[in-house]
Amino acid sequence: MAFITIDQEKCNQDSICVAECPAQVIQMASKQDYPHATPDFGDFCLRCGHCVAVCPTGAISLNWLDPEGCRAIRKELGVTPEQAEQFLCGRRSIRAFKEKKVPRTILKKLLEVACAAPSAKNQQPWHWAVVEDPARVRQLAGMVADWMSMVIESNPEAAEESGFQRVMAAWDKGHERICRGAPHVIVAHADKNWGFGTEDCTLALSLLDLYSTSIGLGACWAGYFYKGVNAYPPLFEALGLPSDHLAFGAIMLGYPKFSYQRIPPRNPPRVTWK
Ligand SMILES: Cc1cc2nc3c(=O)[nH]c(=O)nc-3n(C[C@H](O)[C@H](O)[C@H](O)COP(=O)(O)O)c2cc1C
Repeated sequence: MAFITIDQEKCNQDSICVAECPAQVIQMASKQDYPHATPDFGDFCLRCGHCVAVCPTGAISLNWLDPEGCRAIRKELGVTPEQAEQFLCGRRSIRAFKEKKVPRTILKKLLEVACAAPSAKNQQPWHWAVVEDPARVRQLAGMVADWMSMVIESNPEAAEESGFQRVMAAWDKGHERICRGAPHVIVAHADKNWGFGTEDCTLALSLLDLYSTSIGLGACWAGYFYKGVNAYPPLFEALGLPSDHLAFGAIMLGYPKFSYQRIPPRNPPRVTWK
C-alpha cells in the first residue's frame, strides 16, 4: 500500500500538508500536482500524523492513519486565555492526600493524556510503572529511606546537599516525606540510551500533572523517589524496570486533602532581549 493516498475529489491542492510536514517527506511538483511521498518517506516520516490532522478537507490518508482515525478538535471545548492562565498558574504540588485509591480507569486516562506530550522525533519513548497499591508505595518509600541512610553513612556531604538528613530525621519521627503518604506513584522510564529521555518523560509527566488537576486529583513530583530508583538497584528491581532503562521522573498522586485558595507568586522571568 502506498505511504500516502490522496482523495482527489477532496484535495484542494493548498499544499498545507507539504508545508506542515516536519520531515519534509511530502512534496508537490507544481500547484497543479497532488501531494505525494518523497522517495525517502519511509526512512524519515516521524509518524506524527500532522498531515492528516491539519488537512482542512480530510483529503490525505497515510498507510497507517486516515482522518476518521483521528479525534476531531471540538472548538467549543477551547479554553479562554484567562481560564488557561488560572489553570496553569493555579496548579500546585500536592503533598497531603486522602486515604482513597484512584480507580484504574482514571489512572489509564491520565496516562493516555500524558502520552500526548511532545517528544523528540516523536519517539514517545516513555514507559510507565504505576504503583497502584498504597501499601506497596509505603514499602517502596521504605526502600528509598534505606538508600538515603546508606548515602548518609557513606557520603554525608552529598547527603546533606540533597537534604537526606532532614528527610530521614522526619522519617524517624513518623513523617513520610518521600512519597508523602500518596496512594500511588507513577514512574516514567525509558531506554537509557535515548538522548532525550529526560525531556520527553518530563513533558509527559507535566501533562499528567496538569490533567490530574483538571479532574480533581493532586500530584507532586517525587524527586527523591526516582533518584533512588536509578541509584539503588533493589528499588529498581522491585519496580521491575528493564535493565537497559532509566527512570526519568516520578509523580506521587492521589486525591488532595485540601484545596488552594490563592496563587503564590513566583520569580519574574529573568530574560535578556536580544
Ligand atoms: C524535578 C522535581 C523534583 C521534585 N521532587 C519533590 C519531592 O521529592 N518531594 C516534594 O515534596 N516535592 C518535590 N517537588 C515539588 C517542588 O518542591 C515544587 O514544584 C515547588 O516547591 C513549587 O511548588 P508548586 O509546584 O506548587 O508550584 C519536585 C519538583 C520537581 C520539578
